[in-house]
Amino acid sequence: MVGMRHLISQGRRFWQHWWKFLLPGLLLLGIVTLAVANSQAPVTLRVLMTAPDTPPWREYLAEALNTRQHRIRVEVVEGPNSPNLIEDLYTTAFLLGNSPYDLVYMDVTWAPKFAAAGWLRDLTEDFSTQDLAGFSPQDMEGGKYNGRLYRVPVRSDTGVLYYRRDLLEAAGLSPPRTLEELVAIAKSLQQRGDVRWGYLWQGRQYEGSTAMFVEIIQGFDGFWIDPQTLEVGLDQPEVIRAVDFLRSTIAEGVSPAGVTTYVEEDTRLIFQNGDAAFLRSWPYVFPLANQPDSAIRGKFEMMPMVGSETSSRRGSCLGGWGLGIAKTSKHPQEALEAIRFLTKAAVQKPYILKAGYMPSQRSLFTDPEVVANYAHYPTLKAIADQAVLRPPIAQYAQATDILQRYLSAALTNQLTAEQAMQAAARETRLLLDAARRGGAS
Ligand code: GLC
Repeated sequence: MVGMRHLISQGRRFWQHWWKFLLPGLLLLGIVTLAVANSQAPVTLRVLMTAPDTPPWREYLAEALNTRQHRIRVEVVEGPNSPNLIEDLYTTAFLLGNSPYDLVYMDVTWAPKFAAAGWLRDLTEDFSTQDLAGFSPQDMEGGKYNGRLYRVPVRSDTGVLYYRRDLLEAAGLSPPRTLEELVAIAKSLQQRGDVRWGYLWQGRQYEGSTAMFVEIIQGFDGFWIDPQTLEVGLDQPEVIRAVDFLRSTIAEGVSPAGVTTYVEEDTRLIFQNGDAAFLRSWPYVFPLANQPDSAIRGKFEMMPMVGSETSSRRGSCLGGWGLGIAKTSKHPQEALEAIRFLTKAAVQKPYILKAGYMPSQRSLFTDPEVVANYAHYPTLKAIADQAVLRPPIAQYAQATDILQRYLSAALTNQLTAEQAMQAAARETRLLLDAARRGGAS
């Protein structure tokens, strides 16, 4: 009886004070719900890239990640056209110390500088040899600094030579084997009135001119900077001949005087309009120049860049873009997951099929569906295997700036080839000597 009464009075007390128990319970439930909801809110990773890179990236890569990986979203910020300006924007953001970018989309030449400055996370332990087995050794080389990994390749690139198959065939000519033959064929097609211009290349003072020029240097058997010894070869006769070769194409009317202001897109539009016999550019031109509204659809081919008859070498510049993670990112784990996802062969396939870019996953070069759409991919793979890497050194940004300035001065006749390359060599040696002493970086 007593027990019963006790129970009843306890029950009554509970009902009088129930809210005291319920309120903390409700509060706790609210906190837990919020925490769970928060942990499921997608993390947005921001990345900056050039304007031409943006549409296919958004449509194929970011879209694939955003739909298949609900926890992570990639926001692609469209930057200006030139790789130099993108590099400057990243650099400024890192120097200011409050970078809005989590992922860093880097040209093949940037990783050493960014890594040396301490702006990138070291990814060496995050990727096993097995994870990286599908990429080419050259592409991987461009992502390393002091033997550590900072950048994983998303797409590769290599300089190629386009020519008008229809015009060469009609004139009974074979594709050129040397730069001298290229010029001779170009002149004869110009004389026949088939094309206004013979040969297009990128001569504006920007990174594209460096990429174009390393191919000509190589084709004349010269070198720019030996990355191992930091020796500079710009004032050697081979390099001076390479500059003179480019100058002669303008002087002889084979290349328009405008090449000294052209970037890739200027040259593509002239070639695509049917106004030139040869174009040095990158594989992205192929699908664009084959669009239904192109004047040269189905009339052109792509081949490896040629070298001078005075040398046994020929050069194709290795290009390409890859992802690293900003040290300041608040979401390094998600950024890592995104890189793993975006560099998978299956994710890359629709992207490269659409944009005509070179894959970073080697298996795609010979993938049946890729080859059915782009018969030139196996050739591209062979060209890429021979491609020259611009020197992967921490002082690359300053070195290319020096080269671009003096090359431009020579191409626009402000200096002779010899004056320009001697001055460029002198400045580059000063830069690298300072670096050796631990001064510049
Ligand atoms: C392409 C290449 C890149 C190069 C640039 C020059 O984007 O992939 O490596 O630096 O062209 O304009």
